[in-house]
Amino acid sequence: MYRYAALVLFLAFGIVFQLSHGTEVDVKDKDDKLCLYANLMVNFSVSYDAADNKTATAEFELPPKVSTVGSECGSSSSMLKLSFGEGHTWSMNFNTVDGKKYQADTITFSYNLSDTTFFPKSTSNDTLTATVKPHITDVGLDTCYSCNSKDTIEADAVNQTLWNVLIQAFVINGNKSENITSCPADVPVTTVTPTTHATSTAAPVTNATTAAPPTTTPTPTLPPPSTGKYSIKPDDNSTACLLATFGLRIGVKQADKYQEMNFDPNGTTVSGSCGVNSSELVLVSNTMTITFTFTNDTKKFRLHALNVTGKTSSGVAFSEANTNLSLWEAAVSSSYMCNKEQNYTITGLLTIFTFDLQVQPFGVKKGVFSTAEECFLDSDLSFLVPIAVGVALSFLIILVLISYLIGRRKSRTGYQSV
Ligand SMILES: *[C@@H]1O[C@H](CO)[C@@H](O)[C@H](O)[C@H]1NC(C)=O
Ligand SMILES: *[C@@H]1O[C@H](CO)[C@@H](O)[C@H](O)[C@H]1NC(C)=O
Ligand SMILES: *[C@@H]1O[C@H](CO)[C@@H](O)[C@H](O)[C@H]1NC(C)=O
Ligand SMILES: *[C@@H]1O[C@H](CO)[C@@H](O)[C@H](O)[C@H]1NC(C)=O
Ligand SMILES: *[C@@H]1O[C@H](CO)[C@@H](O)[C@H](O)[C@H]1NC(C)=O
Ligand SMILES: *[C@@H]1O[C@H](CO)[C@@H](O)[C@H](O)[C@H]1NC(C)=O
Ligand SMILES: *[C@@H]1O[C@H](CO)[C@@H](O)[C@H](O)[C@H]1NC(C)=O
Ligand SMILES: *[C@@H]1O[C@H](CO)[C@@H](O)[C@H](O)[C@H]1NC(C)=O
Ligand SMILES: *[C@@H]1O[C@H](CO)[C@@H](O)[C@H](O)[C@H]1NC(C)=O
Ligand SMILES: *[C@@H]1O[C@H](CO)[C@@H](O)[C@H](O)[C@H]1NC(C)=O
Ligand SMILES: *[C@@H]1O[C@H](CO)[C@@H](O)[C@H](O)[C@H]1NC(C)=O
Ligand SMILES: *[C@@H]1O[C@H](CO)[C@@H](O)[C@H](O)[C@H]1NC(C)=O
Repeated sequence: MYRYAALVLFLAFGIVFQLSHGTEVDVKDKDDKLCLYANLMVNFSVSYDAADNKTATAEFELPPKVSTVGSECGSSSSMLKLSFGEGHTWSMNFNTVDGKKYQADTITFSYNLSDTTFFPKSTSNDTLTATVKPHITDVGLDTCYSCNSKDTIEADAVNQTLWNVLIQAFVINGNKSENITSCPADVPVTTVTPTTHATSTAAPVTNATTAAPPTTTPTPTLPPPSTGKYSIKPDDNSTACLLATFGLRIGVKQADKYQEMNFDPNGTTVSGSCGVNSSELVLVSNTMTITFTFTNDTKKFRLHALNVTGKTSSGVAFSEANTNLSLWEAAVSSSYMCNKEQNYTITGLLTIFTFDLQVQPFGVKKGVFSTAEECFLDSDLSFLVPIAVGVALSFLIILVLISYLIGRRKSRTGYQSV
């Protein structure tokens, strides 16, 4: 019972937390009843003409504090109008369809270029307007429209990204509906699982037709990358001097966007060199060039430098390198192996993920891997760590206890001798 109460409390807090960020507004009708509810996040990206014939891009968010003055509720059409800053307004028009559904028809965004906090050095002082069509349709009447996925709507000079959207227009009797119409992007495509916690009082009740509760944001998961086998030969007639096998995924952050891409070994050109103290593996695919530099410090080798240059799927170029790494360390006459998925932060903007990794950059004999030194996660002994810690701790406690007892006995004999 208590556990149940705690769960409900947790859910309630979770939802309060979820609703507490973003911009949340209640629009009331003339009887002071709630008639339009919105909680959403919007990012704006606006390009404008700035001094010196330059085009600047302003990026800002819809602030949490906005005015709803000018919003209107009607029986078949309503308008949400949010004003903020120095005369900027963002409004959305809603209309009912067939008396069963409603939709948002337009978003009108007006921005005041005289506002130097958003548009520094703007050459114009006009207020411009961008009108776009949102992708909010087929929302059941008396349900909330929910969309946690990002939706970017582009216009000539303005891009708007909406996410964590929860809106209800045409609220009946001042009570926001607990039923949700989720946007298609939020509904998982693969498996439509019935929501089990829909019976909780705090969670919105969803219809069978609307699958996802608003808390699940599906992140598109990439399949595991294919494993590539790469080798370098010093010349045509010799066996390999460098061997590497791995599946690779890279994660790149660009202008607040994070993207992961699998490296495709198919069609990759392999080149590189084997040295005494330094070896190099260069992989060139259609989208990326990756250079791995390994060093040999007489006893051990390690991945010392990594340089990844390429383009994301949206075509934006990136180039990230770190020349001071100490990864994949093993004895020079052996190979390094890690079958479990591993991630490494290479730079603030670049992360790599490896799968089924085995490398040997030095001392390859007969073209095959030497004995592997496995990474910690792979080893069957990793489960011993907590046990070892426990044993060490109990040992310490016993030690303290013994020294305390000995100390007490000594001091007692000390007192007796006085
Ligand atoms: C929205 O803008 C803020 C700050 O400008 C940024 O931190 C955030 O990542 C942006 N979110 C999206 C989805 O672009
Ligand atoms: C809007 O997005 C498109 C595509 O991502 C981009 O090419 C364009 O520069 C963006 N415009 C603004 C003003 O950010
Ligand atoms: C800006 O463009 C105008 C005409 O397009 C030109 O006369 C002027 O020299 C340019 N100014 C600068 C700073 O480039
Ligand atoms: C636009 O911004 C300027 C400067 O902040 C301000 O004086 C002006 O009143 C604003 N325009 C509107 C329509 O609010
Ligand atoms: C806007 O700029 C024009 C010149 O670019 C100027 O004549 C006008 O007075 C300005 N208006 C305001 C309200 O600042
Ligand atoms: C939810 O279910 C009720 C009753 O089954 C139905 O009348 C209503 O249209 C449904 N709402 C949506 C959004 O499908
Ligand atoms: C919400 O959905 C439930 C179950 O489908 C239905 O019984 C109820 O009438 C709906 N409530 C509203 C306000 O649509
Ligand atoms: C490779 O071996 C062939 C014949 O065995 C020989 O003709 C060729 O010169 C050798 N190439 C190199 C780079 O050693
Ligand atoms: C590699 O790509 C070629 C053509 O792009 C394709 O025919 C081949 O099946 C691919 N091989 C693998 C292993 O995916
Ligand atoms: C990484 O590689 C690119 C091209 O291959 C090169 O232009 C860049 O200078 C390299 N960066 C470092 C730090 O070596
Ligand atoms: C990276 O690995 C750690 C544990 O090895 C894991 O907790 C973390 O979630 C991973 N990060 C990503 C982005 O997968
Ligand atoms: C590693 O470096 C040491 C000293 O520089 C050298 O003696 C040894 O041969 C190197 N090992 C390999 C496998 O190249």
